[in-house]
Amino acid sequence: MGGIRKVIMEKMRYLTIFILTVIMIMVSGCSMQKQSFEKWTFVHVADIQVGSPRSFRFAPAWNDNWQTAREQIIGIDPEFLLIGGDLTRDGYIHKWELESIKADLDRLPFPCHVIPGNMDVGNKHTDIDGARPDRNDIKLNMTQKQLDQFKSVFGPLWWTFVHKNLRVSGFCDMLPGSGLPDEEAQWRWLEKQTGKSQPQHHIWMMHYALFADSLDEPNWDITKIDQYLGWYFTIDEPWRSRVMEIFKQTDTDRVISGHIHCRKDHVADGIAFDLAAATCFSQWEEKWPDGDPRLGFYRYDVYNNKIEKTFIPLNRVSNRKGYGPGGHPSPEERDYSKAWDK
Ligand SMILES: [Fe+2]
Repeated sequence: MGGIRKVIMEKMRYLTIFILTVIMIMVSGCSMQKQSFEKWTFVHVADIQVGSPRSFRFAPAWNDNWQTAREQIIGIDPEFLLIGGDLTRDGYIHKWELESIKADLDRLPFPCHVIPGNMDVGNKHTDIDGARPDRNDIKLNMTQKQLDQFKSVFGPLWWTFVHKNLRVSGFCDMLPGSGLPDEEAQWRWLEKQTGKSQPQHHIWMMHYALFADSLDEPNWDITKIDQYLGWYFTIDEPWRSRVMEIFKQTDTDRVISGHIHCRKDHVADGIAFDLAAATCFSQWEEKWPDGDPRLGFYRYDVYNNKIEKTFIPLNRVSNRKGYGPGGHPSPEERDYSKAWDK
Protein backbone atom coordinates (compact mmCIF):
# COMPACT_ATOMS: atom_id res chain seq x y z
CA MET A 1 0.00 0.00 0.00
CA GLY A 2 2.83 2.36 1.00
CA GLY A 3 4.44 1.77 -2.42
CA ILE A 4 1.18 2.61 -4.29
CA ARG A 5 0.74 5.80 -2.24
CA LYS A 6 4.33 6.77 -3.05
CA VAL A 7 3.72 6.27 -6.80
CA ILE A 8 0.45 8.29 -6.62
CA MET A 9 2.21 11.09 -4.70
CA GLU A 10 5.01 11.12 -7.27
CA LYS A 11 2.47 11.34 -10.16
CA MET A 12 0.62 14.14 -8.34
CA ARG A 13 3.91 16.00 -7.98
CA TYR A 14 4.61 15.73 -11.76
CA LEU A 15 1.01 16.76 -12.54
CA THR A 16 1.31 19.79 -10.26
CA ILE A 17 4.62 20.80 -11.91
CA PHE A 18 3.02 20.34 -15.37
CA ILE A 19 -0.05 22.45 -14.48
CA LEU A 20 2.11 25.20 -12.95
CA THR A 21 4.34 25.24 -16.06
CA VAL A 22 1.29 25.53 -18.37
CA ILE A 23 -0.07 28.40 -16.25
CA MET A 24 3.30 30.19 -16.36
CA ILE A 25 3.52 29.80 -20.17
CA MET A 26 -0.04 31.12 -20.55
CA VAL A 27 0.67 34.09 -18.29
CA SER A 28 3.90 34.98 -20.08
CA GLY A 29 2.15 34.60 -23.48
CA CYS A 30 -0.60 37.01 -22.40
CA SER A 31 1.90 39.53 -21.09
CA MET A 32 3.68 39.46 -24.48
CA GLN A 33 0.44 40.24 -26.24
CA LYS A 34 -0.36 43.05 -23.84
CA GLN A 35 3.19 44.29 -23.53
CA SER A 36 3.05 47.69 -21.96
CA PHE A 37 5.20 50.65 -22.95
CA GLU A 38 6.04 53.94 -21.36
CA LYS A 39 4.47 56.95 -23.07
CA TRP A 40 6.38 57.78 -26.25
CA THR A 41 6.09 60.43 -28.95
CA PHE A 42 6.06 60.81 -32.72
CA VAL A 43 5.34 63.84 -34.91
CA HIS A 44 3.29 64.25 -38.12
CA VAL A 45 3.87 67.16 -40.46
CA ALA A 46 2.37 67.72 -43.92
CA ASP A 47 2.37 70.16 -46.81
CA ILE A 48 5.76 71.71 -46.19
CA GLN A 49 6.14 72.43 -49.94
CA VAL A 50 9.82 73.28 -49.84
CA GLY A 51 10.77 74.94 -53.11
CA SER A 52 13.84 76.06 -54.99
CA PRO A 53 15.21 79.36 -56.38
CA ARG A 54 16.21 77.38 -59.50
CA SER A 55 12.50 77.05 -60.29
CA PHE A 56 10.13 79.21 -62.38
CA ARG A 57 8.57 80.12 -59.01
CA PHE A 58 9.78 80.26 -55.43
CA ALA A 59 8.21 81.10 -52.07
CA PRO A 60 11.12 81.53 -49.64
CA ALA A 61 8.63 82.00 -46.78
CA TRP A 62 7.56 78.36 -47.12
CA ASN A 63 11.19 77.20 -46.92
CA ASP A 64 11.65 79.40 -43.84
CA ASN A 65 8.53 77.90 -42.25
CA TRP A 66 9.84 74.38 -42.80
CA GLN A 67 13.10 75.35 -41.11
CA THR A 68 11.10 76.70 -38.15
CA ALA A 69 9.00 73.51 -37.95
CA ARG A 70 12.15 71.41 -38.32
CA GLU A 71 13.82 73.15 -35.34
CA GLN A 72 10.67 72.76 -33.23
CA ILE A 73 10.37 69.06 -34.15
CA ILE A 74 14.03 68.42 -33.26
CA GLY A 75 13.29 70.10 -29.90
CA ILE A 76 10.45 67.61 -29.29
CA ASP A 77 12.85 64.71 -29.97
CA PRO A 78 10.25 62.30 -31.41
CA GLU A 79 10.98 58.61 -32.06
CA PHE A 80 10.13 59.20 -35.72
CA LEU A 81 8.61 61.79 -38.06
CA LEU A 82 5.73 61.13 -40.46
CA ILE A 83 5.41 63.40 -43.50
CA GLY A 84 1.97 63.35 -45.11
CA GLY A 85 2.85 64.46 -48.63
CA ASP A 86 3.56 67.69 -50.51
CA LEU A 87 7.14 67.76 -49.35
CA THR A 88 7.97 69.91 -52.36
CA ARG A 89 6.55 72.87 -54.25
CA ASP A 90 7.00 71.27 -57.69
CA GLY A 91 8.66 67.88 -57.15
CA TYR A 92 6.45 66.35 -59.84
CA ILE A 93 8.31 68.55 -62.36
CA HIS A 94 11.74 68.95 -60.73
CA LYS A 95 13.45 65.82 -59.44
CA TRP A 96 16.04 68.03 -57.74
CA GLU A 97 13.39 69.32 -55.32
CA LEU A 98 12.65 65.75 -54.23
CA GLU A 99 16.38 65.03 -53.85
CA SER A 100 17.00 68.22 -51.91
CA ILE A 101 14.26 67.62 -49.31
CA LYS A 102 15.29 63.95 -49.04
CA ALA A 103 18.84 65.04 -48.17
CA ASP A 104 17.45 67.52 -45.63
CA LEU A 105 15.29 64.82 -43.99
CA ASP A 106 18.22 62.40 -43.93
CA ARG A 107 20.10 64.88 -41.74
CA LEU A 108 17.42 64.71 -39.01
CA PRO A 109 18.38 62.78 -35.87
CA PHE A 110 15.37 60.42 -36.15
CA PRO A 111 13.82 58.34 -38.97
CA CYS A 112 11.27 59.83 -41.39
CA HIS A 113 8.45 57.98 -43.13
CA VAL A 114 7.00 59.66 -46.18
CA ILE A 115 3.96 59.39 -48.45
CA PRO A 116 3.71 61.39 -51.69
CA GLY A 117 1.41 64.37 -52.17
CA ASN A 118 0.05 65.76 -55.42
CA MET A 119 2.77 68.43 -55.58
CA ASP A 120 5.33 65.58 -55.49
CA VAL A 121 3.73 63.24 -58.07
CA GLY A 122 0.72 64.94 -59.75
CA ASN A 123 -2.99 65.26 -58.99
CA LYS A 124 -5.84 62.83 -58.43
CA HIS A 125 -7.24 61.82 -61.82
CA THR A 126 -10.19 63.25 -63.68
CA ASP A 127 -11.41 62.61 -67.22
CA ILE A 128 -13.36 65.87 -67.37
CA ASP A 129 -12.00 69.36 -66.88
CA GLY A 130 -13.03 71.31 -63.81
CA ALA A 131 -14.74 74.63 -63.26
CA ARG A 132 -11.54 76.54 -62.48
CA PRO A 133 -10.51 78.66 -65.49
CA ASP A 134 -6.93 78.92 -64.16
CA ARG A 135 -6.15 75.20 -64.44
CA ASN A 136 -6.39 72.30 -66.85
CA ASP A 137 -7.26 69.42 -64.57
CA ILE A 138 -6.84 66.60 -67.08
CA LYS A 139 -3.29 67.74 -67.86
CA LEU A 140 -2.53 67.74 -64.10
CA ASN A 141 -3.41 64.02 -63.75
CA MET A 142 -0.61 62.12 -62.03
CA THR A 143 1.48 59.97 -64.40
CA GLN A 144 3.36 56.71 -63.86
CA LYS A 145 6.57 58.53 -64.85
CA GLN A 146 6.07 61.03 -62.02
CA LEU A 147 5.40 58.19 -59.57
CA ASP A 148 8.55 56.39 -60.75
CA GLN A 149 10.54 59.59 -60.23
CA PHE A 150 9.27 59.83 -56.64
CA LYS A 151 10.05 56.15 -55.99
CA SER A 152 13.58 56.62 -57.35
CA VAL A 153 14.21 59.13 -54.54
CA PHE A 154 12.01 57.98 -51.64
CA GLY A 155 11.43 54.26 -52.30
CA PRO A 156 8.10 52.39 -52.14
CA LEU A 157 4.82 54.29 -52.37
CA TRP A 158 3.11 51.97 -49.87
CA TRP A 159 4.58 50.61 -46.66
CA THR A 160 3.81 49.53 -43.11
CA PHE A 161 5.86 49.14 -39.95
CA VAL A 162 5.36 48.44 -36.25
CA HIS A 163 7.05 50.58 -33.63
CA LYS A 164 6.46 49.47 -30.02
CA ASN A 165 2.64 49.30 -29.62
CA LEU A 166 1.79 51.15 -32.85
CA ARG A 167 1.50 50.14 -36.50
CA VAL A 168 1.80 52.93 -39.07
CA SER A 169 0.76 52.31 -42.69
CA GLY A 170 1.00 54.66 -45.64
CA PHE A 171 -0.04 54.55 -49.28
CA CYS A 172 -0.52 56.76 -52.33
CA ASP A 173 -4.17 57.81 -52.22
CA MET A 174 -4.04 59.50 -55.65
CA LEU A 175 -3.67 56.04 -57.27
CA PRO A 176 -7.23 54.71 -56.71
CA GLY A 177 -9.23 55.36 -59.87
CA SER A 178 -6.16 56.42 -61.87
CA GLY A 179 -5.83 53.24 -63.92
CA LEU A 180 -2.02 53.60 -63.72
CA PRO A 181 0.11 50.44 -63.59
CA ASP A 182 0.81 50.89 -59.86
CA GLU A 183 -2.88 51.06 -58.96
CA GLU A 184 -3.66 47.35 -59.06
CA ALA A 185 -0.44 46.44 -57.23
CA GLN A 186 -1.35 48.90 -54.48
CA TRP A 187 -4.90 47.47 -54.14
CA ARG A 188 -3.43 43.97 -53.80
CA TRP A 189 -1.07 45.22 -51.08
CA LEU A 190 -3.83 47.16 -49.29
CA GLU A 191 -6.11 44.14 -49.25
CA LYS A 192 -3.28 41.94 -47.94
CA GLN A 193 -2.99 44.19 -44.88
CA THR A 194 -6.38 42.96 -43.64
CA GLY A 195 -4.87 39.60 -42.64
CA LYS A 196 -2.19 41.08 -40.38
CA SER A 197 -2.21 40.89 -36.58
CA GLN A 198 -2.29 44.35 -35.06
CA PRO A 199 -0.59 45.85 -32.01
CA GLN A 200 -2.52 48.14 -29.66
CA HIS A 201 -2.84 50.97 -32.17
CA HIS A 202 -2.95 51.34 -35.95
CA ILE A 203 -2.62 54.65 -37.81
CA TRP A 204 -2.98 55.14 -41.56
CA MET A 205 -1.58 58.11 -43.48
CA MET A 206 -3.17 59.69 -46.55
CA HIS A 207 -2.48 62.92 -48.45
CA TYR A 208 -6.02 63.73 -49.66
CA ALA A 209 -8.79 63.57 -47.06
CA LEU A 210 -11.06 60.53 -47.43
CA PHE A 211 -14.08 62.90 -47.22
CA ALA A 212 -14.79 66.55 -46.36
CA ASP A 213 -17.88 66.37 -44.15
CA SER A 214 -19.08 62.78 -43.87
CA LEU A 215 -18.28 59.34 -45.16
CA ASP A 216 -21.56 59.12 -47.11
CA GLU A 217 -21.34 62.53 -48.82
CA PRO A 218 -21.94 62.40 -52.61
CA ASN A 219 -18.96 62.86 -54.90
CA TRP A 220 -18.18 66.53 -55.31
CA ASP A 221 -18.78 67.86 -58.82
CA ILE A 222 -15.57 69.13 -60.42
CA THR A 223 -17.56 71.12 -62.99
CA LYS A 224 -19.34 73.27 -60.39
CA ILE A 225 -17.21 76.12 -59.07
CA ASP A 226 -18.67 75.92 -55.55
CA GLN A 227 -17.83 72.19 -55.40
CA TYR A 228 -14.44 72.31 -57.09
CA LEU A 229 -12.39 72.39 -53.87
CA GLY A 230 -14.49 69.58 -52.38
CA TRP A 231 -13.52 67.50 -55.42
CA TYR A 232 -9.89 68.63 -55.27
CA PHE A 233 -9.44 67.77 -51.57
CA THR A 234 -11.19 64.38 -51.25
CA ILE A 235 -11.41 60.79 -52.51
CA ASP A 236 -14.37 59.88 -54.77
CA GLU A 237 -16.64 56.87 -54.56
CA PRO A 238 -16.38 53.97 -55.18
CA TRP A 239 -12.76 54.17 -54.00
CA ARG A 240 -13.62 56.02 -50.78
CA SER A 241 -15.68 53.05 -49.53
CA ARG A 242 -13.10 50.52 -50.67
CA VAL A 243 -10.34 52.32 -48.75
CA MET A 244 -12.61 52.73 -45.69
CA GLU A 245 -13.30 48.99 -45.69
CA ILE A 246 -9.56 48.37 -45.51
CA PHE A 247 -9.26 50.80 -42.60
CA LYS A 248 -12.06 48.97 -40.77
CA GLN A 249 -10.59 45.55 -41.44
CA THR A 250 -7.16 46.53 -40.16
CA ASP A 251 -8.29 47.71 -36.70
CA THR A 252 -7.51 51.32 -37.53
CA ASP A 253 -7.94 53.86 -34.75
CA ARG A 254 -6.77 56.96 -36.63
CA VAL A 255 -6.23 58.30 -40.16
CA ILE A 256 -4.07 61.39 -40.64
CA SER A 257 -4.35 63.37 -43.88
CA GLY A 258 -2.97 66.63 -45.29
CA HIS A 259 -3.59 68.54 -48.56
CA ILE A 260 -6.36 70.84 -47.26
CA HIS A 261 -4.09 73.04 -45.11
CA CYS A 262 -6.82 73.60 -42.50
CA ARG A 263 -7.16 71.50 -39.34
CA LYS A 264 -10.40 69.68 -38.69
CA ASP A 265 -11.33 66.61 -36.62
CA HIS A 266 -13.82 64.02 -37.84
CA VAL A 267 -14.89 60.64 -36.45
CA ALA A 268 -16.50 58.01 -38.72
CA ASP A 269 -17.36 54.43 -37.78
CA GLY A 270 -15.27 54.80 -34.61
CA ILE A 271 -12.14 55.91 -36.50
CA ALA A 272 -10.64 59.37 -35.83
CA PHE A 273 -9.82 61.36 -38.97
CA ASP A 274 -7.25 64.05 -38.28
CA LEU A 275 -7.18 66.59 -41.11
CA ALA A 276 -3.80 68.13 -40.47
CA ALA A 277 -2.38 71.64 -40.77
CA ALA A 278 0.22 72.74 -43.31
CA THR A 279 3.41 74.65 -42.63
CA CYS A 280 3.53 76.49 -46.00
CA PHE A 281 0.21 78.38 -46.19
CA SER A 282 -3.43 77.84 -45.20
CA GLN A 283 -6.45 77.10 -47.43
CA TRP A 284 -10.21 76.48 -47.11
CA GLU A 285 -10.28 78.63 -43.94
CA GLU A 286 -13.97 79.34 -44.55
CA LYS A 287 -15.01 75.68 -44.85
CA TRP A 288 -15.68 74.72 -41.21
CA PRO A 289 -16.63 77.06 -38.32
CA ASP A 290 -14.43 74.94 -36.05
CA GLY A 291 -11.62 74.51 -38.59
CA ASP A 292 -8.19 75.87 -37.62
CA PRO A 293 -6.11 77.38 -40.46
CA ARG A 294 -3.05 78.12 -38.31
CA LEU A 295 0.25 76.75 -39.60
CA GLY A 296 1.94 74.00 -37.60
CA PHE A 297 2.02 70.24 -37.06
CA TYR A 298 0.82 67.46 -34.74
CA ARG A 299 2.69 65.84 -31.85
CA TYR A 300 1.24 62.44 -30.95
CA ASP A 301 1.84 60.91 -27.50
CA VAL A 302 1.28 57.16 -27.51
CA TYR A 303 0.06 55.40 -24.36
CA ASN A 304 -0.99 51.78 -23.97
CA ASN A 305 -4.69 52.62 -24.03
CA LYS A 306 -4.83 55.85 -26.06
CA ILE A 307 -3.06 58.24 -28.40
CA GLU A 308 -3.18 61.95 -27.57
CA LYS A 309 -2.60 64.56 -30.24
CA THR A 310 -1.44 68.11 -29.66
CA PHE A 311 -1.34 70.82 -32.30
CA ILE A 312 1.96 72.71 -32.25
CA PRO A 313 1.71 76.08 -34.05
CA LEU A 314 4.79 77.44 -35.78
CA ASN A 315 6.84 79.68 -33.50
CA ARG A 316 7.35 82.13 -36.39
CA VAL A 317 5.60 82.57 -39.73
CA SER A 318 7.80 84.03 -42.45
CA ASN A 319 6.56 86.69 -44.86
CA ARG A 320 9.56 86.75 -47.20
CA LYS A 321 8.46 87.51 -50.75
CA GLY A 322 9.29 85.34 -53.72
CA TYR A 323 8.30 85.24 -57.38
CA GLY A 324 6.22 83.35 -59.93
CA PRO A 325 2.63 82.15 -60.23
CA GLY A 326 0.68 80.24 -57.58
CA GLY A 327 -1.66 77.27 -58.03
CA HIS A 328 -1.12 74.84 -60.89
CA PRO A 329 0.19 76.87 -63.86
CA SER A 330 0.37 75.31 -67.32
CA PRO A 331 3.80 74.50 -68.84
CA GLU A 332 3.63 77.69 -70.99
CA GLU A 333 3.48 79.79 -67.83
CA ARG A 334 6.72 78.37 -66.43
CA ASP A 335 9.24 81.15 -67.01
CA TYR A 336 12.63 79.96 -65.81
CA SER A 337 14.26 83.28 -66.75
CA LYS A 338 12.76 84.57 -63.48
CA ALA A 339 14.76 82.07 -61.39
CA TRP A 340 16.95 83.72 -58.74
CA ASP A 341 19.46 80.90 -59.00
CA LYS A 342 20.28 80.28 -62.65
FE1 LIG B 1 -1.64 68.61 -51.71
